[in-house]
Amino acid sequence: MAHHALLVQITLFVLLLFSDLSLGSSLQNGDRFIEAVYSFGDSIADTGNLLVEGVSGGPLAAISSLPYGMTFPGKSTGRCSDGLLMIDFIAKRLRLPSPSPYLKNGSDFTHGVNFAVAGATALEKSLLVENGIIAALPATSSSLDIQLDWFKHHIRSICSNDRKACLKKRLGKSLFLVGEIGGNDYNYVFLTGKSIKEVETYIPSVVDKIINVAKELINAGALYMIVPGNFPVGCAPSYLTAFQTSNVSDYDNQHCIKDLNMFAIHHNKYLQQQLHKLRKKHPMVTIMYADYYNVITYLLNRPHYYGLDEQTLLKTCCGGGGKYNFDIIGFCGSPEATVCANPDRYLNWDGVHLTQKGYQLMTNLLTTGGFTYPNNELWKKWIS
Ligand SMILES: *[C@@H]1O[C@H](CO)[C@@H](O)[C@H](O)[C@H]1NC(C)=O
Ligand SMILES: *[C@@H]1O[C@H](CO)[C@@H](O)[C@H](O)[C@H]1NC(C)=O
Repeated sequence: MAHHALLVQITLFVLLLFSDLSLGSSLQNGDRFIEAVYSFGDSIADTGNLLVEGVSGGPLAAISSLPYGMTFPGKSTGRCSDGLLMIDFIAKRLRLPSPSPYLKNGSDFTHGVNFAVAGATALEKSLLVENGIIAALPATSSSLDIQLDWFKHHIRSICSNDRKACLKKRLGKSLFLVGEIGGNDYNYVFLTGKSIKEVETYIPSVVDKIINVAKELINAGALYMIVPGNFPVGCAPSYLTAFQTSNVSDYDNQHCIKDLNMFAIHHNKYLQQQLHKLRKKHPMVTIMYADYYNVITYLLNRPHYYGLDEQTLLKTCCGGGGKYNFDIIGFCGSPEATVCANPDRYLNWDGVHLTQKGYQLMTNLLTTGGFTYPNNELWKKWIS
């Protein structure tokens, strides 16, 4: 990668992006290559679905009030952050409004739908229960298959005339974001106290589920799809706290836990192998892999350049104290938690999710920094 050119390019886009921080649409007419966004996933992409489903307990209950949403728009929106998410920034890049949450009454689905639900797993809840995985019940049972059912239901409601041709045209000019999903499946298994080796045995079923849903979307008419991989979980304040050890050789040079990052790499490797097969079967379909793992490690390597505070790089902005400012009892939003003065200087928001700034930086790198492959050059066409 040509780093110098890359940085110049990123700087330009960072500047462009800062001029546009709003939830509303700034639709310009003219030819948009992508006209709608369909999003599937969990809390990384949920913009309000879990809030409609209702949360009664657990850490996610906190997302219904401040400090969630404190940076933008100043009140909670159901997003698991202090502000906007990657899905919002990606939509903006495409000059589209953020796709409306599917469950929200009165939503306008002209430019797509967001089916993601915070807490969602790739695998069905019943399967997780059968396998004794669920020690803590997921906040939602709206797994990937359920979100796919919602999508099928939704497309029955659009295109009344000449349905087949109309759907083909519409879905062919849509961008499908399939994930990130699967992170919660592993979270739940880890919560039962299983070892990393044991959790690894779940990778094939989680990835196969993602691939199956991708196949169904392709059969429905999707031509452009992005499938993200897992984050480097060994760098997340929640995991850093839970797996804390005094053995320095358990940590890598970014102070992340090696074995947990290896776990994420295994998931990502297997996912990419399956995506490669899918591309061979469907050469007409653009299937990009979004490299969340390397975007995060890239940011962790150059915090100053991106305006992040190096001292608190692996700490949460909002949390209940401790080495990583993370405490499951004093989770962000609880009375024990404090909020940092300047969330824009932090990558991590609550131990599990990123700050708005973190998501914005990730979006910049994904769309202009060469972290979606292959076909990264398509972004130029999409965002011009
Ligand atoms: C949403 O709309 C449906 C039907 O229009 C209604 O029955 C339901 O109560 C509404 N839900 C909320 C949360 O407003
Ligand atoms: C420390 O960790 C390394 C690698 O993770 C391991 O090989 C070594 O046995 C550990 N040492 C102790 C004292 O546990």
